Amino acid sequence: MHKAEQNVVLGCTDCHGGNPARHLQKEQAHILPKNKQFWNSSANPPNSNAWLNHESPEFIRFINPGDLRVAGQSCGLCHGEIIHNVDHSMMNHGAMLWGAALYNNGAYPEKNYRFGQAYAADGSPLKLINYTPVTPQDVIFSWDLLRQKGRPNHRSYYGKVAKAEQVGERGVRFDLSGADDRELPLILALMPVLAKHAVDPARFEETTFTAPVGSGPYLVNDVDPGKSVTLVRNRAYWGEGLAVNRGMWNFDEVRFEFYRDANVHFDAFKRGLYDVREETDPTRWKTGYDFPAARDGRMIAEALPNGQPKGMEGFVFNARRPLFADVRVREALAMLFDFEWINRNYFFDLYHRTASYFEGSELSARGRQHPIWRGLVLAALAGLCLEVWLTRRLVRGRGIADIGA
Ligand code: HEC
Ligand code: HEC
Repeated sequence: MHKAEQNVVLGCTDCHGGNPARHLQKEQAHILPKNKQFWNSSANPPNSNAWLNHESPEFIRFINPGDLRVAGQSCGLCHGEIIHNVDHSMMNHGAMLWGAALYNNGAYPEKNYRFGQAYAADGSPLKLINYTPVTPQDVIFSWDLLRQKGRPNHRSYYGKVAKAEQVGERGVRFDLSGADDRELPLILALMPVLAKHAVDPARFEETTFTAPVGSGPYLVNDVDPGKSVTLVRNRAYWGEGLAVNRGMWNFDEVRFEFYRDANVHFDAFKRGLYDVREETDPTRWKTGYDFPAARDGRMIAEALPNGQPKGMEGFVFNARRPLFADVRVREALAMLFDFEWINRNYFFDLYHRTASYFEGSELSARGRQHPIWRGLVLAALAGLCLEVWLTRRLVRGRGIADIGA
């Protein structure tokens, strides 16, 4: 199989495991069985397959590195593809075997095989994940359902779509006529697509603990209502090989714990009940992180610039209220708000005013304009201001209502 004169030189322990250090006793170098009584010499006992089921993966590998339960570890580094193919071969999952037996014995009426059994390395039964392809019907179904019963933002965006229809085999055309919203095409691309076969529109609004059908890198594993949700990595994630996913989804298990109160949440962190915390409160950031774990270096507080456009925190006028209808009222309130003073006295000067939608990202125009562009932009702005000013004067002069800013 692997000869020394060839390119790859493999030692016994590369495949079998065990301890290759010198001067060890046999018992120290070898992996020992859990049930010594069955494995009392170097020869395989009769029915070794059955006895192996009661042994550790390490011992299985020691006895036979090619055993499919451990081949991924012993040979997968170099022969990953063939091991994956064997794992997924018809001989292994056996849908046809069970299907044929059930069909021939009249237990199931179709030759469309849907039966099989598979076990993990530890003997626990494996569950089949739903890999039904996403179709245009699913997209149209989701549009129809969510514009009626979705969250408010789903309802409002999908409500702007006049019509959705299938084009070709894999396409959907949304008719946006009359929508007058240039962001809408981008937003539609972010809308969730629900699996038609797994959603009952009549019961859509009911609370349930059935995990929804998803297509992401993680699967819902455990739910403790009101307390936590545990996700496990989907080992067969379809998108794993995509360039966009390189280096992502590294954690085997992700657990979200719910705390309903911000202070309890923070106290739990101080006690080390969870590992990572994002701080958005400037006061807490400056004064709250003084506890034993922070002082002795077990907790590290660090600002991590992420290059993404910044969100915003601020006051927004609800211009539908008559109170704010007059632009001068809004302007006056904006002038009353002393950002610098509040930032200095309450927020440790931690806030920065955003000057663009792309603040903090590489799309931000700050400090990047080309001189010619800057000149052109300034000229255009000056022209615009002049125009607005003239229009306002004109409008005021005629006694017509003020135009909004
Ligand atoms: C390329 C991986 C690989 C390497 C390297 C390797 N083996 Fe193996 N070995 C196997 C596989 C696979 C089997 C099982 C073959 C089978 O069952 O037909 C096996 C079987 C054995 C068995 C029989 C075990 C039993 O009781 O059924 C012994 C003994 C053994 N190897 C010893 C060694 C020794 C000693 C070395 C180092 C000189 C070595 N192997 C190197 C893969 C390897
Ligand atoms: C460190 C990389 C590596 C590991 C681990 C490894 N192999 Fe290989 N194997 C190779 C390479 C490379 C070849 C091609 C022949 C050569 O150059 O030695 C090969 C060849 C083979 C062949 C011959 C294939 C042919 O077409 O002739 C078999 C069979 C094989 N390996 C089985 C195994 C098994 C079973 C295991 C695990 C128990 C294993 N290998 C582990 C690298 C590895």
